[in-house]
Amino acid sequence: MNACLTKQILRTEPPAPRVTATNTTATPAPAEAVPHASPDASLETEIRAPHLIEISNLDFYYGEKKALDCVNLTIDANRVTAFIGPSGCGKSTLLRCLNRMNDLIDGAAVRGGTIKIGDADINAPGIDAIELRKCVGMVFQKSNPFPKSIHENVAYGLRIQGIRDRAEIARRVELSLRGAALWDEVKDRLNDNALGLSGGQQQRLCIARALAVEPQVLLMDEPCSALDPVATGKIEDLIHELKTRYTIIIVTHSMQQAARVSDKTAFFYLGRLVEYDDTRTIFMNPANPQTEAYVSGRFG
Ligand SMILES: Nc1ncnc2c1ncn2[C@@H]1O[C@H](COP(=O)(O)OP(=O)(O)OP(=O)(O)O)[C@@H](O)[C@H]1O
Ligand SMILES: [Mg+2]
Repeated sequence: MNACLTKQILRTEPPAPRVTATNTTATPAPAEAVPHASPDASLETEIRAPHLIEISNLDFYYGEKKALDCVNLTIDANRVTAFIGPSGCGKSTLLRCLNRMNDLIDGAAVRGGTIKIGDADINAPGIDAIELRKCVGMVFQKSNPFPKSIHENVAYGLRIQGIRDRAEIARRVELSLRGAALWDEVKDRLNDNALGLSGGQQQRLCIARALAVEPQVLLMDEPCSALDPVATGKIEDLIHELKTRYTIIIVTHSMQQAARVSDKTAFFYLGRLVEYDDTRTIFMNPANPQTEAYVSGRFG
């Protein structure tokens, strides 16, 4: 792990519960929501680092086409943030900016603004994108397990990290599968091919694979769009559990899903951030008529 980047990211601890005049019902973060901090550190955290991710004036292009236009957004640690908006508005593009997956696309580039995760400017010359992706894991719309055993799918990232101790790998594979609420379903068939799992199980396996390398942030791009309601419910329950330990950003076309799983919601249109607020406000009392029209299904 890039010690420099990790240190910079770890320096930002999750926020303590905030109580403001307009947010008096904020539920306190559970104790385990501060995995790296001592109890005394949480108060300091509130003052020092309320946000884990800070996106400032971000402009992003595919060749000459501007896909993100001056996006400003701050994302809270240990919360679920939903990105919503009509097809082509830039949700996936912004998600991929957060772990620099867009680096892999020819002609795609950030041409203005910054993204900070913790204290690190992730587009700064010293930041290694591969190391960044260990801290900022991603789960895609279509589950994409490797055509290998269930065990190997999860162990893969650990081996890349240079871990060779078989007992340690087995321990972390189990931990990750438990973390992804899949262990009980697969513990007796760890050597079976992952492609034999159901779609919902494959998606949870991909979540386990992402968790194995112990990221801080989990990006999910429409993780349930290919799943039935039961499998979707399992992933949503899982998201609730995971947010005590991870900062989660989910792209979804389902307004119900955004309302169920997220704490905050960002509405995008044509590459711009139109409105960003507590999920309840976005759905019950949005400030912008465009947001209101979208969340009530009148366009998009
Ligand atoms: N690899 C690419 N090359 C060129 N243009 C792209 C590429 N990927 C996305 N775009 C364009 O950038 C804009 C934003 O696309 P993006 O995929 O981020 O939208 P989205 O909000 O995720 O849409 P959807 O809901 O359909 O997934 C669109 O106009 C799209 O055509
Ligand atoms: Mg998309």
